[in-house]
Amino acid sequence: MHDSRETFVNHAFVTGYPVKHSRSPLIHGHWLKQFGIRGSYRAHEVTPEAFPDFMRQIKEGTTGFCGGNVTIPHKEAAFRLADRPDELSAELGAANTLWLENGKIRATNTDGRGFLANLDERARGWDRISTAVILGAGGASRAVIQAIRDRGVKTIHVVNRTPERARELADRFGTAVHAHSLAALPEVVSGAGLFVNTTSLGMDGEPAPAIDFSGLTPDAVVTDIVYVPLKTPLLRQAEEQGLRIVDGLGMLLHQAVPGFEKWFGLRPVVDETLRQIIISDMERHA
Ligand code: ATR
Repeated sequence: MHDSRETFVNHAFVTGYPVKHSRSPLIHGHWLKQFGIRGSYRAHEVTPEAFPDFMRQIKEGTTGFCGGNVTIPHKEAAFRLADRPDELSAELGAANTLWLENGKIRATNTDGRGFLANLDERARGWDRISTAVILGAGGASRAVIQAIRDRGVKTIHVVNRTPERARELADRFGTAVHAHSLAALPEVVSGAGLFVNTTSLGMDGEPAPAIDFSGLTPDAVVTDIVYVPLKTPLLRQAEEQGLRIVDGLGMLLHQAVPGFEKWFGLRPVVDETLRQIIISDMERHA
């Protein structure tokens, strides 16, 4: 018998190059199952050369996708090629979430929202601070700076190995943002209530430099956007120095929420079951 609901089964993607390590299909797959939605979300690898064609095909409706996530190295191209990027993605120059609306590709960037939601969930009250220190000045750093500036943090120190990159961000994100070289770290940490690592330092078991967090306020939060391992060397050091720590896994989970809602019409919840699904997957691939 013909099922008229068939017409409304939505299909979404995550694209990157490579994309096979993405955990997004696990996240969205969990929510689809939880809601009993007959849609799909799958990894779809696209080379940088083929990405403009892929965007055109989405727009023409020939892929069958109603939208999806975009990861490295396509985030900047996704922003440039989208028909209607929103203000958040425009300021970042990068998009991670796309959806089709009336034949146009709309785009946003949900990394900053994911970052904030993770801290709100796991370090309630963290935003009663006036000063934050961000280590790193790459793509992830931009989303974090934008998010905490928009939340009202008055002073944001960006510390980077290559100070010019930090200066570019200070120019882009306005007077709240101050650029520094690594040498300034001890000085800028003093009195700060939030420390964020946005670099790959300590990722996948790589060693990380020792950081003295003693200048931070006593109730300061230290967080890392790296989530493999869950407790990075930086987080371990901060914990040993008596500070509150928040791992980066929640950012990954929370950044997925707005996309799911756009493609499938229901707002999912980040819960412990989902977190455990991803942790088990990380353990399987350790
Ligand atoms: P992403 O988009 O994931 O943030 P990125 O643009 O490559 O990645 O940025 C990586 C960040 O990690 C940069 O701030 C980089 O510093 P540089 O701008 O000087 O390259 C920082 N980083 C990477 N490896 C580092 C290391 N060994 N020591 C200090 N900083 C490092």
